[in-house]
Amino acid sequence: MKFFIDTANLEQIKEAQALGILDGVTTNPSLMAKEGITGVHNIIKHYKTICDLVIGDVSAEVIATDFEGMVKQGEELAALNPQIVVKLPMLKEGIKACKYFSDKGIKTNMTLVFSAGQALLAAKAGATYVSPFIGRLDDISTDGLHLIAEIRQIYDNYNFQTEILAASVRHTMHIIDCAKLGADVITGPLKAIEGLLSHPLTDIGLAKFLADFKKGN
Ligand code: G3P
Repeated sequence: MKFFIDTANLEQIKEAQALGILDGVTTNPSLMAKEGITGVHNIIKHYKTICDLVIGDVSAEVIATDFEGMVKQGEELAALNPQIVVKLPMLKEGIKACKYFSDKGIKTNMTLVFSAGQALLAAKAGATYVSPFIGRLDDISTDGLHLIAEIRQIYDNYNFQTEILAASVRHTMHIIDCAKLGADVITGPLKAIEGLLSHPLTDIGLAKFLADFKKGN
């Protein structure tokens, strides 16, 4: 299972990279704006910086919603670094653009996926990754994890190579549940990833080991 961090915050990216378990980064226009990165020039510069910080795939999202615009922006993004994965919205034009990039051997990530049908189309178009947004489904009282299970079944039925990238992961249990369901990748905030480390019995056990060591020395 791959771990991506879902942020444009350089400090958090560095911290996750230093942990030694990071396989890539996903961003989106909202995450860029959250870090105050605005304007095409600055966004491009930020993508380059992220690529220099990590080993692995870096998803960079197009803003265009028409085929020609997506192709133009996607080609510009892909030219920045071989680590770049062109992130495309789940629209009719996005599927066409996905097929275009897949045929050219450029990696793609179909984003804003909320149904099994959308995920099936993404795989047919040769997407490298498909991003079902589980947290946002949970937000509207729908079972986000159920969608991961559905996509897993469909992809396994036909041996589709598209990787299921569980996105909009909000907390640590989402990561565990996605792992149980066979998601290929999770992308989430650093806090959710670091939550995997914690167990009170680990802390209690370590405190006791250290105290006992001190007694004997
Ligand atoms: O990976 C997609 C993600 O950035 C969306 O997360 O929490 O805004 O639904 P969220």
